[in-house]
Amino acid sequence: MAGCASAILAGTKTLSVVSLTVINSGSSLVTDTAFQTGEEFAAAMDARDPLVHFRARFCIPKTKSGDDCIYLCGHSLGLQPKSASSYLDEQLRNWAELGVEGHFHGKTPWIKFHRLLASQTAALVGAEPAEVVVMNSLTVNLHLMMASFYRPTKERHKVLVESGAFPSDQYAVSSQIRFHGFEPASSLLELTPRAGESSVRDEDVETLIDREGDSIALILLGGVNYATGQVFDMEGITKAGRRKGCVVGFDLAHAAGNVPLRLHDWGPDFAVWCNYKYLNGGPGCVAGCFVHQRHAHAWGLPRLAGWWGHDEETRFQMGPDFHPMAGAEGWQLSNPPILALAALRASMEIFSEAGLERLRSKSLSLTRYMEFLLDQHSSPKYSIVTPREAERRGAQLSIRLRAAGRELCDQLAEQGVIGDWREPDIFRVAPVPLYNSYQDVYLFVQRFFGAL
Ligand SMILES: Cc1ncc(COP(=O)(O)O)c(C=O)c1O
Repeated sequence: MAGCASAILAGTKTLSVVSLTVINSGSSLVTDTAFQTGEEFAAAMDARDPLVHFRARFCIPKTKSGDDCIYLCGHSLGLQPKSASSYLDEQLRNWAELGVEGHFHGKTPWIKFHRLLASQTAALVGAEPAEVVVMNSLTVNLHLMMASFYRPTKERHKVLVESGAFPSDQYAVSSQIRFHGFEPASSLLELTPRAGESSVRDEDVETLIDREGDSIALILLGGVNYATGQVFDMEGITKAGRRKGCVVGFDLAHAAGNVPLRLHDWGPDFAVWCNYKYLNGGPGCVAGCFVHQRHAHAWGLPRLAGWWGHDEETRFQMGPDFHPMAGAEGWQLSNPPILALAALRASMEIFSEAGLERLRSKSLSLTRYMEFLLDQHSSPKYSIVTPREAERRGAQLSIRLRAAGRELCDQLAEQGVIGDWREPDIFRVAPVPLYNSYQDVYLFVQRFFGAL
């Protein structure tokens, strides 16, 4: 099989012509590039990639023999920026030298430290800085948002979710439904692909919202489905939901730092995401939260409160009544974990330098290249379930494996190819434009065919 794989990939014959955007540091120009199957094509693409130098700014895990792993797992845990340790060291030093005074003194006083991330975070999700806050973890933020925005009534109590949503979302939503005295059996509405299809058609989402909207209290969908990698039409869904009077929220765990987002303009009520996948903030890193500007002064909204969400002007008067800050910051509970925020700053600086637009262009090209190579060898043993259309996916291909999938994934890991396995049959790989190369993609496909 390995021989067969190299035979397939060794040729340099041009097999398809695709249009892709090639970025010239700063400006982008669109050219037609013919993908080719040979390794030298991958090397040539890397040589002309203006973002190639960002790879050297990340710690790439090594194989037992000391080579770089082919790390295709940024959809699960992004790699460590080499600069993260100096950002952490700075705060450890402040803590050592200033103790509690670090809250108010030093170059980056902790009392306002979370704001150092606000404008970069806002830019990544297409929001105003006051609409975002970095706090807690994703599932905690999801509960906080539902406490405020899921207000079911007898007539309107349903929550629209993707069937097979990430388990934490399923548990969080079901527990919220029960918390309000309803039952998931009658209040959970699931969006399912048509029979024989792997992803949901955009028009089916809108049809469902039009049909059921009057009974839907909350639409809560992933921006990018974690299993299939499908990007939802967040703008269309928000419009359709708001037309029917539904609250709209998104779980952007797989979208933030991966695909372009314009949350402010699209107008969902809220969104939550984690910062440890495409955003490289480190394991269990503090998460993100968006609350649309129209709720910035919604003092009457019920919310679960904590002292860090209290108006900062009077927070330290330690009064008994809670007066929330305007905007997303009013949903904060606790004083934030500075060390986690410091690590995230390292990655955010890199994102700002690279620019999401340039990253997205490279991402489209890398993912299409991976698809092109995988398509060279059709086999009943696997199929790609991620949508084929570029605008309906991010930096991820989900490969359905019909037999012994987990073993294959483990075998590849032994060879230094790191993707991940999602039960029952999905192998997910993410060519991440910040640190993955065309050669990574080439070698991955070669080893994948070998392992098959
Ligand atoms: C789509 C999605 N939602 C929710 C979660 C849960 O995140 P956390 O453990 O940070 O709350 C994850 C974790 O991978 C996820 O992928």
